[in-house]
Amino acid sequence: MDKVVVSIGGSILIPDKDDSSYIRELSALLRELVQDFQIVVICGGGKISRYYANTGRELGGDTFQLDELGIMITRANAGLLRIALGDLRVEELPLDAERAAALSAPGNVVVMGGTVPGHTTDAVSAMVAKALGADRIVNATSVDAVYSEDPRHNPDAERYTDMTIDQLAGIVYSEHGAGKSSVFDPLGIRIAKENAIDIVIVDGRDLGELANAIRGQGFRGTLVRS
Ligand code: UTP
Repeated sequence: MDKVVVSIGGSILIPDKDDSSYIRELSALLRELVQDFQIVVICGGGKISRYYANTGRELGGDTFQLDELGIMITRANAGLLRIALGDLRVEELPLDAERAAALSAPGNVVVMGGTVPGHTTDAVSAMVAKALGADRIVNATSVDAVYSEDPRHNPDAERYTDMTIDQLAGIVYSEHGAGKSSVFDPLGIRIAKENAIDIVIVDGRDLGELANAIRGQGFRGTLVRS
């Protein structure tokens, strides 16, 4: 049975637009997929974590404190998906990657948020994938693929359906120089590369495509080969 770690951004899970319908449909999908795949889901923070970070910063909070707030919000988001999953979820919300891997088993869905300050939930998903020996990481995000540049700024940007992890690293590092948020956390890319784990980038609001990406075939997105 393939093991798949799904990193789902807060902008997908709780954009404040039919969130409960989406989360209900996502959990129905996971209920179906869990018959064939062992799945761990890592939830991001989205705009609510950004609100907390901005407000905490205005109050004089340091990076560590703001990260801690972010982690709390990612865990609250994980709590929403855990409610929807009902008996499919594991009772415990793991606080680190090793515990998540230990709790994961065929037939259940482990759901978690962040772990410790200093990285994002993409990096957590790579850490869990490493601990679990996962076949791939699916990044359910708000873009439908990796592009050579931001397609909103350059309509001629190249859209990749298949690329190497070194190519993705090149794009992400050049983006970071410009201070933009990247399609996948650079630390997560490094961990995936070191452990030869593929990353699939897919539009997470399109549940049909998300299902295809978890199955690892026929999806409309980008396969990043490690
Ligand atoms: P996210 O993973 O949602 O970060 O965690 P992000 O950069 O907003 O992700 P995208 O752009 O939506 O994909 C929210 C915040 O929580 C803290 C960080 O401050 C992060 O920015 N966090 C999260 C941690 O410090 N450690 C973690 O393990 C996870």
